[in-house]
Amino acid sequence: MTHPQSDLALRALADFWADMGLEEARALRTWRPGRSATAPSTPAARAPSAPRMPDQQPPTQSTGPRGAPRKINNNPINDARRLASQAQSLAELRALVEQYEGCPLKKAAKTTVVADGAYSADVMIVGEAPGAEEDARGLPFVGRAGQLLDRMLATVGLTRQENVYITNLIYWRPPGNRDPSPIEMQMCAPFLLRQIELKKPKLLLTAGKFATHAMLNKEDGIMKLRGRKLSYAQDGMPAIPCIPMLHPAYLLRNPADKAKAWDDLRAIARLCDELGIKRGAAL
Ligand code: URA
Repeated sequence: MTHPQSDLALRALADFWADMGLEEARALRTWRPGRSATAPSTPAARAPSAPRMPDQQPPTQSTGPRGAPRKINNNPINDARRLASQAQSLAELRALVEQYEGCPLKKAAKTTVVADGAYSADVMIVGEAPGAEEDARGLPFVGRAGQLLDRMLATVGLTRQENVYITNLIYWRPPGNRDPSPIEMQMCAPFLLRQIELKKPKLLLTAGKFATHAMLNKEDGIMKLRGRKLSYAQDGMPAIPCIPMLHPAYLLRNPADKAKAWDDLRAIARLCDELGIKRGAAL
């Protein structure tokens, strides 16, 4: 059924892509409900190699000269767990991440990027890691990809001012925006898990393959998982519905996949409504 609001929302998204100089926006602009959006030939999604979720196991203990187990007192993952467990609020958690010295990425980073958005939000987005702009400003998703993310979410009435809380797997920029390593993810994981415990989101969204694989411990590629209602499980908490999304940085590089992103946004909006999550007016 045609919904005038969806049409408006679609146009808002198309306008944004057009503003960004992406020529596929023209095709999207002419798309109308009832006519399927052409999914232009897309570069085949490279099957991402799955970085394993921080498994919460500290690195193998080092051994003494004769192979006797030696106790590690200074395990950075244990330090992260200890610090994270002290947080009684999201504000405290943020301050504790800033105190953490265990992750080598911190040395080269300008800032610690923990989270942004409404503490009371029911929707929590987990991305990958800060980029240059995020590192400069100390906030997640504020560069080009972040601006696209904001515009996409706004098309379904979700904003970080009102109902979305955004964080990343990693709190410091990996040099040259390289992929985060499994050990870096393990070091940051206790803080992410504690954020989820404190925040108790009703809906989790994972942006991109890294966050999706890490959070959901799935083998499938992001193209198979995106837009599906899955479930995030964490000890001591009820399962949380989770929808993986294409990463906005991927969409900037592959604008031909915008129709898929729009499908995912509609799935997210539907699930918000099912879960009783209030959405603002869609743009
Ligand atoms: N990409 C991410 O995954 N997170 C950010 O904060 C910025 C870009």
